[in-house]
Amino acid sequence: MTQHTSPSHPTADALTLTEKASLTSGAGDFVTEAVGPVPAVSMSDGPHGLRLPGEAGDGGQLDLRSAVPATCFPPAVALGSSWNAALAEEVAAAIAAEARDNGVHVVLGPGINIKRSPLCGRNFEYFSEDPLLTAELGGAMVRGLQRSGVGAALKHFAANNQETDRMRVSADIDERPLREIYLRAFERIVRRERPWSVMSAYNALNGTPLSENRRLLTDILRREWGFDGIVMSDWGAVRDRVAALSAGLDLQMPSTRGRTDAEVVRAVESGELAVEDLDAAVERLALFAHRAATGVPAGSGPVDHEEHHALARRAAEQCIVLLKNEQDLLPLDPGAGSLAVIGELARTPRCQGAGSSQVTPTRLDTPLDALRKTAGAAVEYAPGYRLDGTPDEELLEQAVRSAAASDTVVLFLGLPAQDESEGFDRDHLDLPAAQLTLLERVTEANPRTAVVLSNGGVVRTAPWHERVPALVEGWLLGQGGGTALARVLYGHAAPSGRLAETIPLRLEDAPCHLSFPGEAGHVRYGEGVFVGYRGHDRRGNDVAFPFGHGLTYTTFAYGDLAVARTPEGVIEVRLTVTNTGRRSGRETVQIYVGGPDDSHVARPPYELRGFAQVDLEPGRSQEVTVTFDRDDLACYSEREASWFVEGGVYTVAAGASSRDIRCSVPLTVDGDVSAARLTGRSTLGEWLAHPVGGPLLLEAFARGRGRQTDGATGALTDPVLRRFLAGMPLEVIAEFPQSPVPLAQLDDLCERAARTPSP
Ligand code: BGC
Repeated sequence: MTQHTSPSHPTADALTLTEKASLTSGAGDFVTEAVGPVPAVSMSDGPHGLRLPGEAGDGGQLDLRSAVPATCFPPAVALGSSWNAALAEEVAAAIAAEARDNGVHVVLGPGINIKRSPLCGRNFEYFSEDPLLTAELGGAMVRGLQRSGVGAALKHFAANNQETDRMRVSADIDERPLREIYLRAFERIVRRERPWSVMSAYNALNGTPLSENRRLLTDILRREWGFDGIVMSDWGAVRDRVAALSAGLDLQMPSTRGRTDAEVVRAVESGELAVEDLDAAVERLALFAHRAATGVPAGSGPVDHEEHHALARRAAEQCIVLLKNEQDLLPLDPGAGSLAVIGELARTPRCQGAGSSQVTPTRLDTPLDALRKTAGAAVEYAPGYRLDGTPDEELLEQAVRSAAASDTVVLFLGLPAQDESEGFDRDHLDLPAAQLTLLERVTEANPRTAVVLSNGGVVRTAPWHERVPALVEGWLLGQGGGTALARVLYGHAAPSGRLAETIPLRLEDAPCHLSFPGEAGHVRYGEGVFVGYRGHDRRGNDVAFPFGHGLTYTTFAYGDLAVARTPEGVIEVRLTVTNTGRRSGRETVQIYVGGPDDSHVARPPYELRGFAQVDLEPGRSQEVTVTFDRDDLACYSEREASWFVEGGVYTVAAGASSRDIRCSVPLTVDGDVSAARLTGRSTLGEWLAHPVGGPLLLEAFARGRGRQTDGATGALTDPVLRRFLAGMPLEVIAEFPQSPVPLAQLDDLCERAARTPSP
């Protein structure tokens, strides 16, 4: 076999072509090849616990059962609602400890795709509809894994926002929403946390499969963001191995048992694939394997599963969102009469979603057992419905009788496992019909009913939420969720979760509704940047519960909002938060920024730019500081092919949700100077708005003579005429007989505009 060498590739130089090729595909379902000096790397799903194939579930990749128990922590849908990055980091460190214990070097997660549609079947694996919140929580998970010596695989890169036709569909996205919404969390995490690996998505982006997408994998990920890890394919995502390698995909997963390795060898020998591209992938894989082999920090002890279960409970508590609580129905009072717990989901909870992320929990707390333990009095239980959806009159009537005979009811409703999974999207947001009937009958029999929801993707709560005084969103909470719910319902823990996604009134209100999930192999992201609350708020839709919403058992007041700029250009927002109620609790202060008013780009009223949490005893106040960079205010300009901060007066607002803005202050920001040259095709408006071109043009106008000057001055001072002309290219205006800048002087003006330094 010929040796292909290249001076800058020490590992590749030591390997034969065949060895190099074999290194760039898996040795098995979840392990890479050990070749020469490069050791094998073992991987496991992810993301909210380990999915470890063992003897009982040894059916290979298609066997989604995992035989080896591992702690099932709250999936991303729940963790996202904690808005607590420190918690996400702690959970990830615990997952890393279990990974190390099982010889796993890399956990396949976190999943940081944006929730574009509430129907996406895999929304339970993703954090939020907002890129900043996603980046903060996903970034914390990468940190937690990697500081514990276990690599992260940031997935699914990118724009994997639906399950329908996921292996073929092309997400067709304009550059601005692509950068601002769908790539933003990837960019932030890659730059800040340096993940060991990124997993390319199944789908295509604007026609090019992600696994073969040179622009994404090489130009943007590596060159722009400085990524130094490996790109691995999602399992089975590679169609053309040679095209993938030359685009920047280092590792095809899982193994193809040598079939595509031979294609790589042939492609190098025929010159179709540059050996330098293969060598570069080999070097990156060598670094990846080196990180895996040397990652384990000293002093990592054995895993304490009891401790991890306790963490799973504590984490779950912080993920529960109290959506509504009238008449102080919650917290439940153990001394206040009898309680009926209704709903099969109280006895048979769903703690996670289905698909590749499914963990076999080490144990499972059920809400029913936990409520029985906490209640202190007898608890009446009725299942009320069957999880397979089969109508059951007897169960219904029994539940109604229990409700009528009790002082208070806690009714567990939600989506059965078969309704949501990796691999398919839902086609509606409704709860099963039998559960809606039960809800109606139970609330008729006993209006003192608190509803607890279990679901991985949002469900429609309108109009029935009007009928219930208390509503708790319990998502899928992992193995400690049962105890966590009982503690929150009884007030042993204060609810502190906040919605990381909007609950719309109707599916039709979702901004992507008209173009989801696409057709004929394409899904057009027609709503642009107006995803989730950005779209609902811009259109002024009423929503059931807005992004960022969540109550607790006390209330908070905000005051003294001020914004300042540090010498380094960081924007610092300060405010004082006071607990104005009678119980202790946690507030999540959200900082939104809107504007500027005369913006040249379409914007939502407000976008989340930062947040902070504060725990306060009743009557206590604390100053809260949230910072963000001026660059965080940038929009992506397709014309400039770069991020661009518009100058002007922005509004910095502190809120308890995107719809509950408590106070705001203005912030004047100097804009970036356009790098684009002004030309004759630039409009009068663009010339006038330009810091160099504007004054030059006005000067040229002033130098114009007599009637012409009057005409031009008139045009600029008459507001209607000015708007009329603002959209015209200067070269068109220059042709007008009265133009103070004749066509002949235009080139000179453009030259001077390009030469003059900006102020
Ligand atoms: C999923 C990935 C997962 C992989 C390995 C794929 O089907 O999309 O998220 O990590 O399988 O199980």
